[in-house]
Amino acid sequence: MIEISHVDKWYSASFQVLKDCTTNVAKGEVVVVCGPSGSGKSTLIKCVNALEPFQKGDITVDGTKVNDPKTDLPKLRSRVGMVFQHFELFPHLKIIDNLCLAQEKVLGRAHDKSMAKGMQLLERVGLKEQAQKFPAQLSGGQQQRVAIARALAMDPIAMLFDEPTSALDPEMISEVLDVMVDLAREGMTMMVVTHEMGFARKVANRVIFMDRGEIVEDAPKDDFFGKPRSDRAQKFLSKILSH
Ligand SMILES: Nc1ncnc2c1ncn2[C@@H]1O[C@H](COP(=O)(O)OP(=O)(O)OP(=O)(O)O)[C@@H](O)[C@H]1O
Ligand SMILES: [Mg+2]
Repeated sequence: MIEISHVDKWYSASFQVLKDCTTNVAKGEVVVVCGPSGSGKSTLIKCVNALEPFQKGDITVDGTKVNDPKTDLPKLRSRVGMVFQHFELFPHLKIIDNLCLAQEKVLGRAHDKSMAKGMQLLERVGLKEQAQKFPAQLSGGQQQRVAIARALAMDPIAMLFDEPTSALDPEMISEVLDVMVDLAREGMTMMVVTHEMGFARKVANRVIFMDRGEIVEDAPKDDFFGKPRSDRAQKFLSKILSH
């Protein structure tokens, strides 16, 4: 579903942020991306739905080449859901209207269809009762579940998550992870930047470890947690697991 092949990216002439990154995510696969701050995790997943350009290599999503100038990027982005650390809901729109907007503007869905889909997804993430509220009236965990529902309303072929729980209070983390675990178990293709190793153990097929712009490790979950090959990944893992 997602093929990343020899991607190099520079933010400036003197700063190469991604170095020869290659990996694939098969349909229905869940891949967790971890690594130290500044290693390029966010940059890599932003390249997948063309929120960031890159200078060398290729990325293909469901057969569409992201770095082909002829590719319809808004269309591609509408098919790849993205959930960020900060939920990025529209503050002036009610929850249900947050869910309807892109369905109608981008997919051209009729209002009754987008409302029905929106309500169905709010129910799925346990927030049907909050439909008429504004984002600021919801907790962080609830807002993040709305953001996930909003992405799902577009019938995405894959979902990208960038540290979706790292801005949340501990008691809200699990309510968001539960929604993500369900999604993974239903067969959604997912690329998830997270340091929630419990989530990785539960549903990841593979774990990618990045350091200084490189994919240092790309291993089946059990191999990664069993014993990472590289020293850098071992050190990183022992640090985060000791907390
Ligand atoms: N728009 C930008 N312009 C220039 N440099 C950037 C830009 N965005 C990120 N960087 C730099 O690129 C490097 C990788 O950033 P990135 O956000 O991808 O890392 P990350 O692994 O997601 O880190 P974190 O765990 O802190 O989120 C960092 O050194 C960062 O300062
Ligand atoms: Mg990041």
